[in-house]
Amino acid sequence: MKEKKRQNKNHNNNYEIKSLTPTEIVNELNKYIVGQDAAKKAVAIALRNRWRRQQVKENLREEILPNNIILIGPTGVGKTEIARRLAKLANAPFLKVEASKYTEVGYVGRDVESMIREITDIAVNMVKSEKMEEVREKAQQLADEKILDILVEPIRRQVREPFPVPSEQTLQPEKSEDQPKKSARDFYREKLIKGELDDTIIEFESQADTSGPVMQILGPFGPDDLGVNLQEMLGNILPKKTKKRKMTIKEARAYFREEEAKKLIDMDAIIKEAIFRVENTGIIFIDEIDKIAGPPSKVGPDVSREGVQRDLLPIVEGSTVNTKYGPVKSDHILFIASGAFHVSKPSDLIPELQGRFPIRVELHSLTEQDFVKILTLPENALIKQYSALLRSEGVEIEFDDDAIIEIAKTAAEVNEQVENIGARRLHTILTTLLEDILYGVPDQIKEKKIRITKEMVNDKLSSIVKNRDLSKYIL
Ligand SMILES: Nc1ncnc2c1ncn2[C@@H]1O[C@H](COP(=O)(O)OP(=O)(O)OP(=O)(O)O)[C@@H](O)[C@H]1O
Ligand SMILES: [Mg+2]
Repeated sequence: MKEKKRQNKNHNNNYEIKSLTPTEIVNELNKYIVGQDAAKKAVAIALRNRWRRQQVKENLREEILPNNIILIGPTGVGKTEIARRLAKLANAPFLKVEASKYTEVGYVGRDVESMIREITDIAVNMVKSEKMEEVREKAQQLADEKILDILVEPIRRQVREPFPVPSEQTLQPEKSEDQPKKSARDFYREKLIKGELDDTIIEFESQADTSGPVMQILGPFGPDDLGVNLQEMLGNILPKKTKKRKMTIKEARAYFREEEAKKLIDMDAIIKEAIFRVENTGIIFIDEIDKIAGPPSKVGPDVSREGVQRDLLPIVEGSTVNTKYGPVKSDHILFIASGAFHVSKPSDLIPELQGRFPIRVELHSLTEQDFVKILTLPENALIKQYSALLRSEGVEIEFDDDAIIEIAKTAAEVNEQVENIGARRLHTILTTLLEDILYGVPDQIKEKKIRITKEMVNDKLSSIVKNRDLSKYIL
């Protein structure tokens, strides 16, 4: 036991922050986000500094605070996308929140501390599913043995334990002359692993899940806000009901695998590691920070804005928040705030908060040339997405180069004339452009190859673009 504890501790301390270099990080981001080089650079440095900090001697390490970032830029230019991709790269617990949904402590609404509780939940789930994956094979073996207990044991112990009984027609071991030495158990195990029994139905007793109804009774409070794991507590107090279950062996193998995996993992170690990851690698993305900036409103009491900013201070600065998994320190969590700052400026934030976000990066409005790239280059580019969708119907769709330029041009035009919603405009334009095809395939449109030409783009879109009122609604 002692040995085990020590190992866990070591493991935690050695937990590797993924160590991509800044250039590598930018290269990875480039796969998904076009342009916005300054922002990419800033986040790459912040992420690498995490790793650098881990290499520093312990007493100094505690002193090195993350460089929180404010991303400033109009809507739809990649602010959220950059933060999201960054978290994926780092395999870090990531939470995105809207600053405007928080209210000052003492008022009805969400208090800012809940973001630490939420990211801890996310981290626990993240580590848990990693660990479940690690024990998957072992759990499957144990699960299969359990199924074999249900399938085979009763044949031997019929008198002593009449329940459960396998359905007899399907489960009589075939008397095979070639394998005289094999026990029934081995015989079935082989079949089970090969998947030959997948469709067979078995019946067994299992503990009924009590968590569902309990959660409902708690209603509006929710377990999160209470800070303790009520669900678990009540689950242990309430009598365990058993429930008869019937499922196919295929389902049962997954069901028992889950059950066995839960027993194999060490929840305490998982929680410890999750908290470590939140504290050292967590990234919280606070969207719409500009909505809580600005001079206090002149009419009525200004419940949230400044109050929320004041509440944010200690969290961003570093404080300890009680979560249902225990105290979590926010000192080294990286905060990335973002906002359009159309009306207010970063300088409208209260000075203390400005100081906590020393890095400001501006993201630029996207141009026609950017749109061409966004349509085609990223790994999740829209054109690739639609091609994949249509390929599922056996249809190959191809866009002429000048058709793509035309789409980009239209997007830029509409953004200029109606409202600049950045790259999101490409979504609305493409769905309008492809509507007939997406509807017509496969019933009316039988072609297996569809080519989108510049003329088609013009036909479909130009009348809408020219009519401002129409484009307001459609594009
Ligand atoms: N520079 C870019 N390169 C590639 N795709 C982009 C870029 N900018 C935006 N997109 C795409 O546009 C969509 C919206 O982007 P995102 O969510 O990052 O906007 P945002 O800047 O956070 O806007 P908001 O201020 O409204 O939250 C996403 O689907 C994203 O993939
Ligand atoms: Mg956003």
